[in-house]
Amino acid sequence: KNSSKKFRIGFAQCTGSDLWRKQMLASMYAELLFHPDIELEYRDAQNNTEKQRRDIENFIDDKIDLLIVTPNEADAITPSVELAYNKGIPVVMVDRKINSEKYTAYIGADNYEIGKLAGALAAEISKGNGAILEVWGLRESSPALERHRGFSDAIAPYPNLKIVASLDGQWEQDTAAHRFRESASILPSFNIVYAHNDVMAYSVYTLCQKQGRADSIKFIGVDGLSGPGGGLQLVKDRILTATFLYPTGGEEAIRTASDILHGQPYIKDNILETTPIDSRNVKVMQLQQMKMEAQRNDIVRLQQNVNSQGQRFDQQQLYIYILLAS
Ligand code: FRU
Repeated sequence: KNSSKKFRIGFAQCTGSDLWRKQMLASMYAELLFHPDIELEYRDAQNNTEKQRRDIENFIDDKIDLLIVTPNEADAITPSVELAYNKGIPVVMVDRKINSEKYTAYIGADNYEIGKLAGALAAEISKGNGAILEVWGLRESSPALERHRGFSDAIAPYPNLKIVASLDGQWEQDTAAHRFRESASILPSFNIVYAHNDVMAYSVYTLCQKQGRADSIKFIGVDGLSGPGGGLQLVKDRILTATFLYPTGGEEAIRTASDILHGQPYIKDNILETTPIDSRNVKVMQLQQMKMEAQRNDIVRLQQNVNSQGQRFDQQQLYIYILLAS
């Protein structure tokens, strides 16, 4: 009987309800099929930083072997991550960062770079002349801070291209809609919306469309998810002028965690590729994503097949054993 020890990974996710996070988790579970000696324990903080701190501390008390975390807010989560790290628990951060070097590995795309690309695009489509509404992700989360900084740096050389207003969408479709409605009457006029993710861009688009002015505004988002309602479809439908691919890093997180747990060499800072997506390349991107998803589903199916074959084999062994014993 196989009595080898299982490694336990605790995954402290900042929020789990949106499509991007669901895809992240799905790719983690798909990758886990290749790591039968690893178990994943999952906690969703539901955008609540205090809850995420407790989740991490519970994982520490539970003596997990490794922590995967997407820090909801950089400053506030730093002490909890440091606590785990100082106790010798390896920490793999995905997508969002803390404000300290006390982590074992990081996996995610370069959000400053994404901001810069978005800013360059805003300059291009407006010919350096435009009024921008920026819709922020959660203010204290690292991707929001970096996406803002990159964007500001990229538009700085254009004196006639300015951020004229900002809204706190906190990464959420509903919050962005709420904030927009709240301040609609006092917002200065704008002709570009730069939202830190696609769902918030879509929110503002829908409301502008209701006011009959969506056609005179260009919308830019981030994520570029495939599937219904994803950013790729929004670009294809000409709702978004552009988005930027933001890979979830789910698969890479599990692979890196496994390397760390098995004492294999690993890379500390893993920067995933991003790319601008607009009407020129959206079809190719959709085809690629569809192919990748089909492959992933095949792998999952294959693995299930192997498992059921294995069960049948165990059963046959048992029959033989009973036959021999009788
Ligand atoms: C999903 C999300 C993405 C965004 C990322 C930033 O929860 O809001 O839309 O790119 O988190 O951490």
